[in-house]
Amino acid sequence: ACPYDAITIHREVRDGDTRETVRINPMLCEGCGVCMAVCPRKGVEVGGYTLDAFKAQTCALLQDKPLQDKDFEPRIIAFCCNWCSYAAADTAGVYRVQYPPNVEIVRTMCAGMVHPELVIHALKNGADGVMVLGCRPGECNYRSGNSTARSWMDNVHLKLAAMGIAPERFVQNWMTAADGPLFGDLAKSFTEHIRTLGPVENPTAHQVQNPEEMRNHGAKEVLQN
Ligand code: FES
Repeated sequence: ACPYDAITIHREVRDGDTRETVRINPMLCEGCGVCMAVCPRKGVEVGGYTLDAFKAQTCALLQDKPLQDKDFEPRIIAFCCNWCSYAAADTAGVYRVQYPPNVEIVRTMCAGMVHPELVIHALKNGADGVMVLGCRPGECNYRSGNSTARSWMDNVHLKLAAMGIAPERFVQNWMTAADGPLFGDLAKSFTEHIRTLGPVENPTAHQVQNPEEMRNHGAKEVLQN
């Protein structure tokens, strides 16, 4: 899965037991974090980024936007890759492109760094919609990170449907750093679409606690892709 082949698995036989260890070659690693999203044990930390840190950041952003009982205001998390979509959000500011304050940005190094579990976690913890925004196809700053992210989108949609959550609450999109207006348009149209859907469907009724449970819910592919 590593776009730079920086990861190797070493097998060692000791006293009849075979042990496997993962090694990352720091000379090859570029810090994209794709390994974070595909590691089946979720045990990889890259450049200080961890799944738990992303979850904590997401929860903190959502807590800042309390639910409004009477007038529903969608709460949206946008995972933005540092090199294109995060820069596009900046460009939107430069061009004074207005976009709804409902969209909260979580910066990642690459769209491929976003573990699918983070999408589900956000929707279970107060987000009404999630976007993963990265570089355009063929233009990922880390070769193929955006392709890795695209590869699991359908599985997450299936997983959400199995949980009783409308799959259209999760979208991916691709842009360049100059696409400030596109970022603004996407933020507006997605916010309005989520507004028509209303608050997220009762996710706690289908709450998934751990990877084993996810497998039981038929989401094995989500963890493995
Ligand atoms: Fe933007 Fe990979 S660096 S999607």
